[in-house]
Amino acid sequence: QDVSLIGVPMDLGADRRGVDMGPSAIRCAGLESRLEQLGYAVHDEGDLVVRRAKAYSSVPESNLKYLYEIVRVNEELAEAVAGIIARKRFPLVLGGDHSIAIGTLAGILRHKENVGVIWYDAHGDVNTADTSPSGNIHGMALAVAMGYGHPALTGIGGERRKVKPDNVVIVGSRSLDPGEQRFLKEKGVTVYTMHEVDRLGVSRVMEQTLDQVTRGTDGVHLSLDLDGLDPKEAPGVGTPIPAGMSLRESLLAVEILSDAGVVTSAEFVEVNPTLDIRNETAKIAVELIASLLGEKIM
Ligand code: ARG
Ligand code: MN
Ligand code: MN
Ligand code: MN
Repeated sequence: QDVSLIGVPMDLGADRRGVDMGPSAIRCAGLESRLEQLGYAVHDEGDLVVRRAKAYSSVPESNLKYLYEIVRVNEELAEAVAGIIARKRFPLVLGGDHSIAIGTLAGILRHKENVGVIWYDAHGDVNTADTSPSGNIHGMALAVAMGYGHPALTGIGGERRKVKPDNVVIVGSRSLDPGEQRFLKEKGVTVYTMHEVDRLGVSRVMEQTLDQVTRGTDGVHLSLDLDGLDPKEAPGVGTPIPAGMSLRESLLAVEILSDAGVVTSAEFVEVNPTLDIRNETAKIAVELIASLLGEKIM
Protein backbone atom coordinates (compact mmCIF):
# COMPACT_ATOMS: atom_id res chain seq x y z
CA GLN A 1 0.00 0.00 0.00
CA ASP A 2 1.11 3.56 -0.68
CA VAL A 3 1.66 5.98 2.18
CA SER A 4 0.69 9.66 2.09
CA LEU A 5 2.50 11.97 4.48
CA ILE A 6 0.91 15.20 5.52
CA GLY A 7 2.48 17.72 7.90
CA VAL A 8 0.53 20.07 10.11
CA PRO A 9 2.87 22.72 11.54
CA MET A 10 0.43 23.67 14.27
CA ASP A 11 1.35 24.86 17.73
CA LEU A 12 -1.67 27.00 18.56
CA GLY A 13 -3.28 24.17 20.51
CA ALA A 14 -0.34 24.05 22.92
CA ASP A 15 0.97 26.50 25.48
CA ARG A 16 4.43 26.53 24.15
CA ARG A 17 5.76 27.44 20.73
CA GLY A 18 7.93 24.96 18.84
CA VAL A 19 5.83 21.92 17.98
CA ASP A 20 5.06 23.72 14.72
CA MET A 21 8.54 22.53 13.70
CA GLY A 22 7.62 18.91 14.37
CA PRO A 23 6.82 17.89 10.77
CA SER A 24 10.07 19.35 9.58
CA ALA A 25 12.06 17.65 12.35
CA ILE A 26 10.51 14.27 11.54
CA ARG A 27 11.21 14.69 7.82
CA CYS A 28 14.81 15.69 8.64
CA ALA A 29 15.17 12.53 10.71
CA GLY A 30 14.84 10.57 7.46
CA LEU A 31 11.26 9.37 7.45
CA GLU A 32 10.71 9.18 3.71
CA SER A 33 13.80 7.16 2.81
CA ARG A 34 13.17 4.84 5.73
CA LEU A 35 9.68 4.04 4.46
CA GLU A 36 10.99 3.63 0.92
CA GLN A 37 13.47 1.07 2.20
CA LEU A 38 10.49 -0.84 3.54
CA GLY A 39 9.10 -0.93 0.01
CA TYR A 40 6.42 1.73 0.30
CA ALA A 41 5.72 4.34 -2.34
CA VAL A 42 5.68 7.51 -0.26
CA HIS A 43 3.72 10.55 -1.37
CA ASP A 44 4.67 13.63 0.58
CA GLU A 45 1.63 15.88 0.37
CA GLY A 46 3.54 18.68 2.08
CA ASP A 47 2.44 20.80 4.99
CA LEU A 48 -0.84 22.60 5.55
CA VAL A 49 -0.57 26.34 6.16
CA VAL A 50 -1.09 27.47 9.73
CA ARG A 51 -1.36 31.22 10.16
CA ARG A 52 0.13 32.69 13.25
CA ALA A 53 -0.70 36.06 14.71
CA LYS A 54 -1.48 37.40 18.11
CA ALA A 55 -4.87 38.47 16.77
CA TYR A 56 -6.08 34.89 16.40
CA SER A 57 -5.79 34.37 20.13
CA SER A 58 -8.76 36.46 21.11
CA VAL A 59 -11.98 34.52 21.26
CA PRO A 60 -14.26 36.76 23.28
CA GLU A 61 -16.90 34.20 24.20
CA SER A 62 -14.68 31.45 25.54
CA ASN A 63 -11.34 30.54 27.07
CA LEU A 64 -10.36 28.43 24.09
CA LYS A 65 -7.04 29.70 22.83
CA TYR A 66 -6.75 30.27 19.07
CA LEU A 67 -10.09 28.56 18.48
CA TYR A 68 -10.89 29.77 14.98
CA GLU A 69 -7.52 29.22 13.35
CA ILE A 70 -7.44 25.75 14.88
CA VAL A 71 -10.90 25.08 13.44
CA ARG A 72 -9.85 26.32 9.99
CA VAL A 73 -6.72 24.16 9.83
CA ASN A 74 -8.55 21.08 11.07
CA GLU A 75 -11.25 21.52 8.43
CA GLU A 76 -8.50 21.48 5.81
CA LEU A 77 -6.86 18.49 7.43
CA ALA A 78 -10.14 16.55 7.49
CA GLU A 79 -10.50 17.20 3.74
CA ALA A 80 -6.93 16.12 3.07
CA VAL A 81 -7.17 12.92 5.11
CA ALA A 82 -10.49 11.97 3.53
CA GLY A 83 -8.89 12.49 0.11
CA ILE A 84 -5.92 10.29 0.99
CA ILE A 85 -8.22 7.47 2.10
CA ALA A 86 -10.31 7.89 -1.06
CA ARG A 87 -7.11 7.26 -3.03
CA LYS A 88 -6.61 4.06 -0.99
CA ARG A 89 -3.43 5.27 0.63
CA PHE A 90 -2.38 5.04 4.24
CA PRO A 91 -2.63 8.50 5.88
CA LEU A 92 0.35 9.35 8.06
CA VAL A 93 -0.13 12.72 9.73
CA LEU A 94 2.83 14.55 11.28
CA GLY A 95 2.20 17.12 14.00
CA GLY A 96 2.06 19.59 15.27
CA ASP A 97 0.24 19.71 18.53
CA HIS A 98 -2.38 17.11 19.37
CA SER A 99 -5.32 19.36 18.42
CA ILE A 100 -4.80 18.07 14.87
CA ALA A 101 -6.28 14.72 15.85
CA ILE A 102 -9.65 16.44 15.56
CA GLY A 103 -9.19 16.96 11.83
CA THR A 104 -7.53 13.61 11.23
CA LEU A 105 -10.38 11.70 12.86
CA ALA A 106 -13.05 13.82 11.19
CA GLY A 107 -11.48 12.93 7.83
CA ILE A 108 -11.28 9.23 8.69
CA LEU A 109 -14.92 9.16 9.76
CA ARG A 110 -16.02 10.22 6.30
CA HIS A 111 -15.01 6.78 5.12
CA LYS A 112 -15.45 4.64 8.20
CA GLU A 113 -18.52 3.94 10.29
CA ASN A 114 -16.71 3.01 13.50
CA VAL A 115 -13.07 3.71 13.96
CA GLY A 116 -11.11 2.25 16.85
CA VAL A 117 -8.69 4.75 18.38
CA ILE A 118 -5.50 4.03 20.30
CA TRP A 119 -4.48 7.20 22.15
CA TYR A 120 -0.85 6.70 23.21
CA ASP A 121 -0.20 9.64 25.50
CA ALA A 122 0.85 10.82 28.97
CA HIS A 123 -2.41 12.78 28.95
CA GLY A 124 -6.05 12.03 28.33
CA ASP A 125 -6.83 15.06 26.16
CA VAL A 126 -10.47 14.83 27.19
CA ASN A 127 -10.95 18.27 28.69
CA THR A 128 -13.70 20.60 27.59
CA ALA A 129 -13.78 24.37 28.02
CA ASP A 130 -15.31 23.87 31.47
CA THR A 131 -12.73 21.44 32.80
CA SER A 132 -9.57 22.63 31.01
CA PRO A 133 -7.01 24.12 33.36
CA SER A 134 -5.23 25.81 30.47
CA GLY A 135 -7.61 26.63 27.61
CA ASN A 136 -5.24 24.72 25.33
CA ILE A 137 -7.15 22.85 22.67
CA HIS A 138 -4.60 20.02 22.37
CA GLY A 139 -5.83 18.94 25.80
CA MET A 140 -9.38 18.59 24.41
CA ALA A 141 -8.86 16.74 21.13
CA LEU A 142 -10.06 13.29 22.16
CA ALA A 143 -13.19 14.67 23.84
CA VAL A 144 -13.98 16.61 20.66
CA ALA A 145 -13.47 13.52 18.50
CA MET A 146 -16.10 11.79 20.63
CA GLY A 147 -18.47 14.73 20.19
CA TYR A 148 -17.90 16.69 23.41
CA GLY A 149 -16.76 20.30 23.43
CA HIS A 150 -17.26 23.66 21.79
CA PRO A 151 -19.61 23.37 18.78
CA ALA A 152 -17.05 25.03 16.52
CA LEU A 153 -14.74 22.09 17.30
CA THR A 154 -17.24 19.23 17.30
CA GLY A 155 -18.65 20.57 14.01
CA ILE A 156 -15.32 20.16 12.18
CA GLY A 157 -15.81 18.06 9.07
CA GLY A 158 -19.57 18.61 9.31
CA GLU A 159 -21.92 17.17 11.90
CA ARG A 160 -21.03 13.62 11.10
CA ARG A 161 -20.11 10.41 12.81
CA LYS A 162 -18.10 10.61 16.00
CA VAL A 163 -15.70 8.22 17.67
CA LYS A 164 -17.55 6.00 20.16
CA PRO A 165 -16.11 5.94 23.70
CA ASP A 166 -16.29 2.16 23.62
CA ASN A 167 -13.90 2.10 20.65
CA VAL A 168 -11.22 4.19 22.37
CA VAL A 169 -8.27 2.97 24.42
CA ILE A 170 -5.82 5.32 26.11
CA VAL A 171 -2.35 3.91 26.81
CA GLY A 172 0.43 5.37 28.94
CA SER A 173 -1.43 8.02 30.88
CA ARG A 174 0.02 9.56 34.00
CA SER A 175 -1.41 13.06 34.00
CA LEU A 176 -5.20 13.26 34.02
CA ASP A 177 -6.96 16.39 35.28
CA PRO A 178 -9.82 15.88 37.76
CA GLY A 179 -12.45 16.70 35.14
CA GLU A 180 -10.83 14.24 32.74
CA GLN A 181 -10.91 11.44 35.29
CA ARG A 182 -14.62 12.05 35.77
CA PHE A 183 -15.24 12.20 32.01
CA LEU A 184 -13.38 8.96 31.31
CA LYS A 185 -15.25 7.06 34.02
CA GLU A 186 -18.59 8.48 32.99
CA LYS A 187 -18.13 7.56 29.31
CA GLY A 188 -16.55 4.21 30.09
CA VAL A 189 -13.35 4.78 28.11
CA THR A 190 -10.71 2.07 28.64
CA VAL A 191 -7.56 3.57 30.13
CA TYR A 192 -4.27 1.77 30.67
CA THR A 193 -2.37 4.17 32.90
CA MET A 194 1.30 3.62 33.66
CA HIS A 195 0.10 1.66 36.68
CA GLU A 196 -1.59 -0.95 34.50
CA VAL A 197 1.30 -0.93 32.04
CA ASP A 198 3.69 -1.72 34.88
CA ARG A 199 1.46 -4.42 36.33
CA LEU A 200 0.43 -6.18 33.15
CA GLY A 201 3.33 -5.39 30.86
CA VAL A 202 3.10 -3.80 27.44
CA SER A 203 2.47 -7.06 25.68
CA ARG A 204 -0.76 -7.81 27.54
CA VAL A 205 -1.86 -4.20 27.50
CA MET A 206 -1.51 -4.07 23.73
CA GLU A 207 -3.28 -7.39 23.21
CA GLN A 208 -6.22 -6.23 25.29
CA THR A 209 -6.13 -2.87 23.52
CA LEU A 210 -6.28 -4.57 20.14
CA ASP A 211 -9.18 -6.65 21.29
CA GLN A 212 -11.09 -3.57 22.32
CA VAL A 213 -10.40 -1.35 19.31
CA THR A 214 -11.11 -4.01 16.71
CA ARG A 215 -14.44 -5.06 18.20
CA GLY A 216 -17.16 -3.82 15.84
CA THR A 217 -14.87 -1.36 14.06
CA ASP A 218 -13.90 -0.98 10.42
CA GLY A 219 -10.49 0.56 11.00
CA VAL A 220 -8.00 1.49 13.72
CA HIS A 221 -6.28 4.82 14.13
CA LEU A 222 -3.10 5.22 16.17
CA SER A 223 -2.74 8.70 17.66
CA LEU A 224 0.70 8.74 19.20
CA ASP A 225 1.74 11.70 21.31
CA LEU A 226 5.52 11.54 21.77
CA ASP A 227 5.04 12.70 25.36
CA GLY A 228 3.70 9.19 26.03
CA LEU A 229 7.35 8.22 26.08
CA ASP A 230 9.60 9.02 29.01
CA PRO A 231 11.13 12.49 28.64
CA LYS A 232 14.54 11.04 29.50
CA GLU A 233 14.44 9.34 26.12
CA ALA A 234 12.12 11.68 24.23
CA PRO A 235 12.89 15.13 25.64
CA GLY A 236 11.59 17.16 22.70
CA VAL A 237 7.95 17.53 23.70
CA GLY A 238 6.02 20.55 24.94
CA THR A 239 4.46 18.97 28.02
CA PRO A 240 6.90 16.38 29.40
CA ILE A 241 5.70 14.13 32.25
CA PRO A 242 8.18 11.81 34.02
CA ALA A 243 7.84 8.04 34.48
CA GLY A 244 6.61 7.29 30.99
CA MET A 245 6.83 4.50 28.46
CA SER A 246 10.37 3.57 27.52
CA LEU A 247 11.54 3.48 23.93
CA ARG A 248 11.73 -0.31 24.13
CA GLU A 249 8.18 -0.58 25.44
CA SER A 250 6.98 1.80 22.77
CA LEU A 251 8.70 -0.13 20.00
CA LEU A 252 7.16 -3.34 21.30
CA ALA A 253 3.75 -1.67 21.36
CA VAL A 254 3.93 -0.59 17.71
CA GLU A 255 5.43 -3.94 16.67
CA ILE A 256 2.46 -5.71 18.20
CA LEU A 257 0.17 -3.37 16.26
CA SER A 258 2.14 -4.03 13.10
CA ASP A 259 1.89 -7.80 13.52
CA ALA A 260 -1.86 -7.55 14.03
CA GLY A 261 -2.13 -5.72 10.71
CA VAL A 262 -5.20 -3.72 11.70
CA VAL A 263 -3.97 -0.13 11.83
CA THR A 264 -5.41 1.90 8.96
CA SER A 265 -4.08 5.39 9.78
CA ALA A 266 -1.67 7.04 12.19
CA GLU A 267 -0.46 10.36 13.48
CA PHE A 268 2.66 11.29 15.42
CA VAL A 269 2.35 14.52 17.34
CA GLU A 270 3.88 16.97 19.81
CA VAL A 271 7.50 16.76 18.64
CA ASN A 272 9.24 19.96 19.71
CA PRO A 273 12.75 20.11 18.24
CA THR A 274 13.55 23.40 20.00
CA LEU A 275 13.78 21.43 23.24
CA ASP A 276 15.91 18.67 21.76
CA ILE A 277 19.12 19.86 20.21
CA ARG A 278 20.06 16.46 18.71
CA ASN A 279 16.62 15.83 17.29
CA GLU A 280 16.36 12.57 19.24
CA THR A 281 12.61 12.77 19.64
CA ALA A 282 11.97 13.05 15.90
CA LYS A 283 14.39 10.14 15.35
CA ILE A 284 12.34 8.12 17.82
CA ALA A 285 9.21 9.08 15.90
CA VAL A 286 10.81 7.69 12.73
CA GLU A 287 11.77 4.46 14.52
CA LEU A 288 8.24 4.02 15.77
CA ILE A 289 6.69 4.77 12.39
CA ALA A 290 9.01 2.31 10.62
CA SER A 291 8.18 -0.41 13.14
CA LEU A 292 4.47 0.31 12.93
CA LEU A 293 4.70 -0.05 9.16
CA GLY A 294 6.45 -3.38 9.28
CA GLU A 295 10.17 -2.92 9.80
CA LYS A 296 11.63 -5.99 11.49
CA ILE A 297 14.87 -6.50 13.35
CA MET A 298 15.33 -9.80 11.53
N1 ARG B 1 -4.28 18.31 30.64
C1 ARG B 1 -3.53 19.48 30.28
C2 ARG B 1 -4.43 20.50 29.61
O1 ARG B 1 -5.51 20.17 29.24
C3 ARG B 1 -2.35 19.14 29.38
C4 ARG B 1 -2.71 18.60 28.04
C5 ARG B 1 -1.52 18.22 27.23
N2 ARG B 1 -1.92 17.67 25.96
C6 ARG B 1 -1.09 17.32 24.99
N3 ARG B 1 -1.64 16.91 23.86
N4 ARG B 1 0.19 17.41 25.12
O2 ARG B 1 -4.04 21.64 29.45
MN1 MN C 1 -1.82 14.46 23.60
MN1 MN D 1 0.36 14.40 25.87
MN1 MN E 1 12.85 -0.27 14.07
